[in-house]
Amino acid sequence: MRIARTIPEARAAVASLRANARCLGLVPTMGALHAGHISLVRAARAACDAVVATIFINPTQFASGEDFAQYPRTFEADCALFESEGVDLLFAPEAAEMYPEGFCTVVEIEGVSDRLDGQSRPGHFRGVATVVARLFNIVAPDKAFFGQKDAAQVAILRRMVRDLNFPLELIVCPIVRDPDGLALSSRNRYLSPEDRGHALALARALCRIEERIVAGIFDSASLLEAGRAILAEEPAIRLDYLRIVDPDTLEDLPNARHGALVAVAAWVGSARLIDNLLIP
Ligand code: PAJ
Repeated sequence: MRIARTIPEARAAVASLRANARCLGLVPTMGALHAGHISLVRAARAACDAVVATIFINPTQFASGEDFAQYPRTFEADCALFESEGVDLLFAPEAAEMYPEGFCTVVEIEGVSDRLDGQSRPGHFRGVATVVARLFNIVAPDKAFFGQKDAAQVAILRRMVRDLNFPLELIVCPIVRDPDGLALSSRNRYLSPEDRGHALALARALCRIEERIVAGIFDSASLLEAGRAILAEEPAIRLDYLRIVDPDTLEDLPNARHGALVAVAAWVGSARLIDNLLIP
């Protein structure tokens, strides 16, 4: 696996991969890898001739007061994992490489960016869209792989790919969970053993909503009430949002129709966790 630290190094390495690869896959990450990230790499390996992964803890998608400084940094272990999964090129720039002095261009997905996590984390999706657009321009992949775990991120990136005509296919991979249901997240490392137990209520609330839907209840208000009741059983949980929304516009839906997104975000201890369910 080659490691590129600068944009010119990355471009040169991509050009040499391109010589033998008809289909190039991109897996952007912020490192602190877990099986969710690896599922994206495996999907990329299966669908593409060459795989480029990135590790960049993007400062512009963290608001002040968020966990940028504490975000887990496990670069050596991440490299070993990517290498063992057959990643061809790792692009891992420093912040100064991605944000040189004078940098002032942003990508703003209007409206969608202000919903769900965008509402609680103002500016977050501007940071995500801007860095991902630039990774697309630097690597020029044919397919880019993202996790359904970050459903709002998927919505904004889908919109961006359409609106800015990026010539690539966005592939969304299912949420990887621990056996007890907790969605894997780099931020799970912040959880004490007790908080990890409390955090299971997020997945339980989504399951309860799914059960109700299977039982024929589609009214969002009563579904959300059932989900909130589960979360309320855990005093350690501070709910940010629980909503039933259109998966593309992220606007609230009065009824949980086919394909609707049930999304939850909550603080457990110092960790802000998200999870979701797409209604089949
Ligand atoms: P990060 O949180 O490191 O996640 C990288 C990718 O892994 C994202 O597409 C995310 O949805 C996916 N992922 C995380 N947990 C997952 C799980 N349990 N199952 C399946 N996929 C999972 O998301 C980001 O980084 C950043 O915002 C980024 C896109 C890299 C831009 O900075």
